[in-house]
Amino acid sequence: MSDRPPHRVFDPAVEGEDDSSLRPLSLDDFIGQGKLKEKLSIFIRAARQRGESLDHCLFYGPPGLGKTTLANIIAREMGGQLRVATGPSLERTGDLAAILSNLEPNDVLFIDEIHRMPSNVEEILYPSMEDFALHIIVGKGPLANNICLNLPRFTLVGATTRLGLLTSPLRARFGIVEQLALYDDDDLRSIVARGARVMGVKIRKDAAGEIARRARGTPRVALRLLRRVRDVAEVRNMAEIDRAVASAALDMLGLDDTGLDEGDRRILRILVELFDGGPVGLSTLGAALNEEVQTIEDIFEPYLIQQGLLERTPRGRKATRNAWLYLGKTPPPESPDTMQLPIMDEE
Ligand SMILES: Nc1ncnc2c1ncn2[C@@H]1O[C@H](COP(=O)(O)OP(=O)(O)O)[C@@H](O)[C@H]1O
Ligand SMILES: [Mg+2]
Repeated sequence: MSDRPPHRVFDPAVEGEDDSSLRPLSLDDFIGQGKLKEKLSIFIRAARQRGESLDHCLFYGPPGLGKTTLANIIAREMGGQLRVATGPSLERTGDLAAILSNLEPNDVLFIDEIHRMPSNVEEILYPSMEDFALHIIVGKGPLANNICLNLPRFTLVGATTRLGLLTSPLRARFGIVEQLALYDDDDLRSIVARGARVMGVKIRKDAAGEIARRARGTPRVALRLLRRVRDVAEVRNMAEIDRAVASAALDMLGLDDTGLDEGDRRILRILVELFDGGPVGLSTLGAALNEEVQTIEDIFEPYLIQQGLLERTPRGRKATRNAWLYLGKTPPPESPDTMQLPIMDEE
């Protein structure tokens, strides 16, 4: 077994390949996440009717599920501009103050990875969110002056993969806090079909379904797979993507029938072969995999859990019976004391 993590072709955290032309521009175009969409559209309509800005929104969930897209949509629907920043890029209070003082009414300030914002920067965000007031210190030493600027009513949209890492005062200042869940196959199929339309390629329904099934519940992955499948279809001079070419292309990428890739299989193999199926603590697992704990939690786990292959238990991660069967191994007999324990986060 090599101890280097395999290169992940489909790392949904990598945004580089996102094609902004594929982003839905309105809530109507945003596929899936029905409940979230319904709530948001009501809140947006109500804010517009009152002539107010939308309450600050916090979206959390694994990468590639549409958080950035929603921030774009909100700005459009509220008729404001979108300003973009990321938590780690706001190094000094002045960085944030500069952005805030340039906002106009109804603008949306999108802060991605908001859990990684330094705490001194976070503190000047509180009064800005609450009272639309920016407190800054001008000058140094005895001549320093504390001044307060009034800000226009704007909407802060925060996105994070790690809700648990947000401080509670920050979390409490968001009026709307919503989780994005992994998408089901039907929604992903529609996302692939829509993507194909925008890209101007023809795809059969069953081929779109094939891509959807292997997209790990993630629109970004679905669209990336679509691009790779399109490449293969183009090289083969096909006018339309059919199921056979989609399957062949996806097999070539090392994705199996269930959408698991080499990285997923490696986790399951290590759990089963090295740790007898677990439970094993997340940091131990990370060390064995030579993979960051956060990568395991954000990228691999949600899908493995959704597929019923991995379990979070109070004593750590555990391979399910299905994981043993998936690897072609006989699961250990179930003993009463290893029966289901309540799911609990390690952190
Ligand atoms: N519900 C959706 N319907 C259609 N396309 C989507 C949807 N959610 C995400 N996408 C597409 O998937 C890609 C990743 O979405 P993004 O908003 O960047 O995810 P996140 O910010 O959560 O990582 C984008 O290209 C976007 O157009
Ligand atoms: Mg994003």
